Amino acid sequence: MTESVSGEDGATTLRTHRCGSLRSANVGAAVRLGGWVHGKRNLGGLVFLDLRDRDGLVQVSFDPALVDESTRDLAASVGKESVVLVEGDVVARPPAGRNPELATGEVEVKARSLRVIGPAVTPAIPVARAKGEALPAEELRLRHRYLDLRRPELQHNLILRHRLMQTTRQFLGAQGFLEIETPILTKPTPEGARDYLVPSRVHPGAFYALPQSPQLYKQLLMVSGFDRYFQIARCFRDEDLRADRQPEFTQIDIEASFVGPEDIYRVAEGLIVALWKEGGRDIARPFPRMRYEDAMERYGCDRPDLRYGLELFDATELFRSTDLGIARAAIDAGGRVRGVRVPGGGALSRKQVDELEVLAKGAGAGGLLRLKRDGAQWSGPVAKYLGAGAAEQIGMADGDLALFVAAPDRIANPALDRVRQELARVMQLVRGEALCFLWVTDFPLFERDADSGALGAVHHPFTSPHEDDLAMLDTEPWRARAQAYDVVLNGTEVGGGSIRIHDPELQRRVFGLLGIDDATAQRRFGFLLEGLRAGAPPHGGIAFGFDRIAMLLAGAPSLRDVIAYPKTTTANALFEGAPGAVPDEDLRELRLRRVDTTSKE
Ligand code: AMO
Repeated sequence: MTESVSGEDGATTLRTHRCGSLRSANVGAAVRLGGWVHGKRNLGGLVFLDLRDRDGLVQVSFDPALVDESTRDLAASVGKESVVLVEGDVVARPPAGRNPELATGEVEVKARSLRVIGPAVTPAIPVARAKGEALPAEELRLRHRYLDLRRPELQHNLILRHRLMQTTRQFLGAQGFLEIETPILTKPTPEGARDYLVPSRVHPGAFYALPQSPQLYKQLLMVSGFDRYFQIARCFRDEDLRADRQPEFTQIDIEASFVGPEDIYRVAEGLIVALWKEGGRDIARPFPRMRYEDAMERYGCDRPDLRYGLELFDATELFRSTDLGIARAAIDAGGRVRGVRVPGGGALSRKQVDELEVLAKGAGAGGLLRLKRDGAQWSGPVAKYLGAGAAEQIGMADGDLALFVAAPDRIANPALDRVRQELARVMQLVRGEALCFLWVTDFPLFERDADSGALGAVHHPFTSPHEDDLAMLDTEPWRARAQAYDVVLNGTEVGGGSIRIHDPELQRRVFGLLGIDDATAQRRFGFLLEGLRAGAPPHGGIAFGFDRIAMLLAGAPSLRDVIAYPKTTTANALFEGAPGAVPDEDLRELRLRRVDTTSKE
């Protein structure tokens, strides 16, 4: 694997080239190389070392005709992963000795001298692997991250990450966006259960919070007239982790003034196109758009994967007049019966469909109703209730399966979403390398708690309501749409943003609807409200999950593969042992006391 990051040859006072950069054009050159011993072969007196650096591998030979025995002995005995300096000459390999799998495979370096300058103890995990050899357990790799990062795959990923950062800076810089840093030590938010807190030594008992995002700072930068801002910003969230989440992660954070959604879509699509181009893929724009309401109706989720169909449909009317108890009960309680047609799904085994039902139940559904068509025959538990007439209306072809959930949408949507995703996996509906980008627009402004009826912000409390829905804030605020949008790629949310509230009075009303009274708003967000009162331009923006983008472009399975020092799913940094204990005297200085939560008291 060879990466030319900037075209330079890496020459320093100790070396003339990087190992992985040598090509036929270098034949005849006397070179000095430094690198890690990746592999070693001893063919009866002729010793070969594979020397590795970030550019790749090169073969170095120690020929009895050119080097003395002690040098060959040194080469034969040097430990893998040791750092050596080699002097020698680049020669063309004979045709039979060429290695097409190696970028340097047409040449080798005939050594004249060897120095072992960084001997390595036996590595805890191997760096070189035979083809098809499995990786060591991830925990072990994270524990010895400095070694794992030597793997060409991870070197490639981090080099790609670097290139994507440079592309971001170039693209946004050329569009007039200013790169401005915002604080890492910030004000805690009282309900910020997800804040990481940092105690202040100077102000005993007081805490800073690490930012969950630079949201308020970027809005205030607009108030201050910077017009267009971006930052490659580190964000911190103390939340339950999954494969696509890290407790500290990086956003490409963007904000602009005097804009509407279309302006943000334009910049965001331009950036995405530039990033994917850097990653070697051409993508078309504009991206398709789908309203939140339609996404939920057609796919049961707000980040649909459009690489496959399996759209949902409403079968409530078909079931309304049947005697099927669970369907009737759900409909009578204000719910619906919604289903998914699965072309060719009749071939799924009973066990496979049972497993789908387990998923649906895990998402809260009471069960998954089944209907199968074999020619003119209808089978499955709901067949006898529906009858052929109703079943016919579902539009299933021979060999198709239909699966239904009878429930309110808030239960049926996540259940059917899980079922769709699993069906796509089991039936291998995702083929090739399709890139289905999508804007999901018109999100609701609020979500309503099913039990208490309390309103929460779907995006964040600073999101502007849709202009056409302002009147609803007084009557049915839960129906109001927001000027909020997400960018989705193949079912993953890669970014999200909104037009913000710039009118302090509207911000106060939205806080009120969220149960934040004036005094609390002043205490928590006083600095924002003061800013909005100081002359605020209309503004809006977006933030992309940079790690997610790097992961998708690297084709990596996990965010951990594109972050140099990632945390585990339990938020540990295994190589350094973070988080770690702090001595009592340090706590005393911070006026903190350890509380034994295991004791009965
Ligand atoms: P949001 O919370 O949607 O918006 O975050 C923006 C994007 O950041 C990525 N992301 C994450 N990536 C890795 N690990 C995590 N724990 C994690 N959480 C989020 C996602 C997401 O789309 N201030 C707003 C943006 C705005 O309104 O401009 C914000 O932070 O890809």
